[in-house]
Amino acid sequence: MTRNLVCVNCGTIYPLEDRRLRCACGGLLDVQPDLHEASPPAVLAQQISSRASSMNPEDLSGVWRYRELVLDLPPDQLVTFPEGRTNLYQLDPTPFGLSALWAKHEGENPSGSFKDRGMTVAVSWARHQEARALICASTGNTSASLAAYGARAHLPVFVLIPEGRIALGKLAQALAYGAHTLQVDGSFDDAMHIVEQLAADHHLTVVNSVNPFRLEGQKTIILDSWFQLGGRLPDWIIVPGGNLGNTSAFGKALMEMKALHLIDRVPRLAVIQADGAAPFARAATRDFAAFEPICNPETVATAIRIGNPVNYAKAVRAIRFTHGVVTSVSDAEILLAKHDLDRQAVGCEPASAATLAGLRRLLREGTIHAGESVLLVITGTLLKDPDTTMALAMGQAAPAGGKTEELAQCVNMPRHVTADPDTIARAIEEELA
Ligand code: F0G
Repeated sequence: MTRNLVCVNCGTIYPLEDRRLRCACGGLLDVQPDLHEASPPAVLAQQISSRASSMNPEDLSGVWRYRELVLDLPPDQLVTFPEGRTNLYQLDPTPFGLSALWAKHEGENPSGSFKDRGMTVAVSWARHQEARALICASTGNTSASLAAYGARAHLPVFVLIPEGRIALGKLAQALAYGAHTLQVDGSFDDAMHIVEQLAADHHLTVVNSVNPFRLEGQKTIILDSWFQLGGRLPDWIIVPGGNLGNTSAFGKALMEMKALHLIDRVPRLAVIQADGAAPFARAATRDFAAFEPICNPETVATAIRIGNPVNYAKAVRAIRFTHGVVTSVSDAEILLAKHDLDRQAVGCEPASAATLAGLRRLLREGTIHAGESVLLVITGTLLKDPDTTMALAMGQAAPAGGKTEELAQCVNMPRHVTADPDTIARAIEEELA
């Protein structure tokens, strides 16, 4: 399919091979396929499902198996593990009065987060363009994912992370996979700004979600869900919002799937932010008439501690197209939701649990109705942030938003026992009593 880069702000068109990150006007770029060249929907659906039993790397990947809607690259140019094909778990919808509730577990990707879906596309394209080195700013998961794909592509990787503000598992991954790791004495937003400033002068390829190729890969969260649900999508898709890459990618996926007649009804997007880092939710209350960044974002969900999301304009488009909603939840609500998901062994990091906390809020407010169907996008695995999980289990979590009594119910401390069968038997009987 013919593809170009198109500015979402002024409509200027650039060739796909142009190396610019933004339009000359400063606007974000889209990778825009000429959908007139696409096969009819039945043919596309048949092509996609025929790949489910193939052992070719490009078909095993839950990103590249949707390549007609992602990017044309020869199979030998792909940097893939493979990724995607994450499980779609059925959760019990009854307590919520819903008709169905699913959790798409993106923490099951090779580096433990959804970022791998975008990274396989951005890094494949960067290697195709003979990039000198790759760079990103990150709250942790992007850096872990880039480190992984950079290692696989044998390309040098630089990651800028806010010092002391990323979860332990993510930092460990970046270091272990060999990324040059620069801990910045500042916020994620500061690091993001610096990366964009110096990339062009130093011939570095930026693979944050401002890179439109990243978003082409992240569209496949929707495509994969559609495929797993037998060619349909639920009434609502709920996703946490930070830099708003997923929000933008999901909106674009749904626009294209609708245009291609793969779906006839568009699900509504619900984007959930943390109360202390909610610039998008705040702008939504004014129907996006004005955007004000938040200078000192703060939340226990470090992945979404972002005050100035780069994809704002595309995310507004996604909300408008899907008649979506944006809201925020407290850190205490996030941790309680995390506890619920963890106890169902869907284990996730705090940012991902914002989805379930958001669902509760939207049901309470009457935005989501009884009888509707909902899909939660679980963005990262529990193992990313062992410190928060341990604090919750040990009764040491003191998040903003109160709920002390409910949080006390989450405590599950390990017990010390001597290595003696009688003592251990007694402990077991006490626990079962
Ligand atoms: N959930 C997790 C686990 C994340 O790591 C991120 C973003 C988000 C949600 C928010 O997604 O940016 O598409 O709105 N993490 C980025 C990073 C910013 O650097 O790892 P978004």
